[in-house]
Amino acid sequence: MTNQARHTPTLLVHGGAWAIPADAAAAHEAGVRNALETGYKILARGGTALDAVEAAVTVLEDDPTFDAGRGSFLTSDGRVQLDALLMDGGRMKAGGVACVERLRNPIQAARLVLEQSPHVYFVGAGAEQFAASHGMALIDNGELVLDRERERLTAAQAREAAGLADITFSGHILHDDKSPETAFPHRAPMDSHDTVGAVALDAEGNLAAATSTGGTLNKTPGRVGDSSLIGCGCYADNLSAAVSLTGWGEPIMKLVLGKWATDRVAGGTAPEVAAREAIAYLFNRLEGHGGIILLGPDGRFGLAHNTPAMAWGLATPAGLHTGLTA
Ligand code: GLY
Repeated sequence: MTNQARHTPTLLVHGGAWAIPADAAAAHEAGVRNALETGYKILARGGTALDAVEAAVTVLEDDPTFDAGRGSFLTSDGRVQLDALLMDGGRMKAGGVACVERLRNPIQAARLVLEQSPHVYFVGAGAEQFAASHGMALIDNGELVLDRERERLTAAQAREAAGLADITFSGHILHDDKSPETAFPHRAPMDSHDTVGAVALDAEGNLAAATSTGGTLNKTPGRVGDSSLIGCGCYADNLSAAVSLTGWGEPIMKLVLGKWATDRVAGGTAPEVAAREAIAYLFNRLEGHGGIILLGPDGRFGLAHNTPAMAWGLATPAGLHTGLTA
């Protein structure tokens, strides 16, 4: 006989918020669905929220559709540099890595940091050495680099050389009348931010969050964005909420937006409202753009974005649902 679940297992994932073009929509939804299926299996059999978010994000890192793991955007000198964080809201433990170049799944290295280290965060070669010393394979950076991304970097650098604005953050550059710059008159660009993330609530009532990214296209080597910084692109605390963000990292970091959103939930705001407020705050304060998924300890959730689309999915005992907008 099993114990009655006291909480409804819930998994919410995202695969980036940007102007997802029509020809990439199916791949985004399929990737999100695969992540949901893998992560929710763990929750359904009584596994932990932390295991579920790690597994879901691993699937997204392995999918070259997204700006995480293999297929990520390239640095200005043509390499993949990855950042990832996960957080266990029950134990209040976190693990993060940044600027790693030789790990296929940085979220798994982050989990090792969380479980196996008295520290919380490792960067660069030290992070890779730590992961290798705990059994992770070190790979050649070239294995993470796609020709698609080499071409995208070349195009971005050509635009930069031509003096076109916002190139640092440009991924998919749209030139037609339906360009996001036309549809959404924000000063910041609306190009690809395929950062991935997951938040989960398990049957024991524990929350967890995970976020992983290749960062921004044409970034200067060594640049770290919001995704792997605690309270910025990822946060979880059973006493407030679990959150993962995607979007233009610098404004999100300056606002410590993940913690801002979870604090509002702790203060009594419904996650659905807090998610919308967080994205409004991001834009109104710093003209930032991006997306958020937010899950409370009672299973209520919210998602919001101020980009043309966000790839997301939800799994509960009632089934799986995916979408490309909120
Ligand atoms: N949000 C991903 C980044 O800016 O690196």
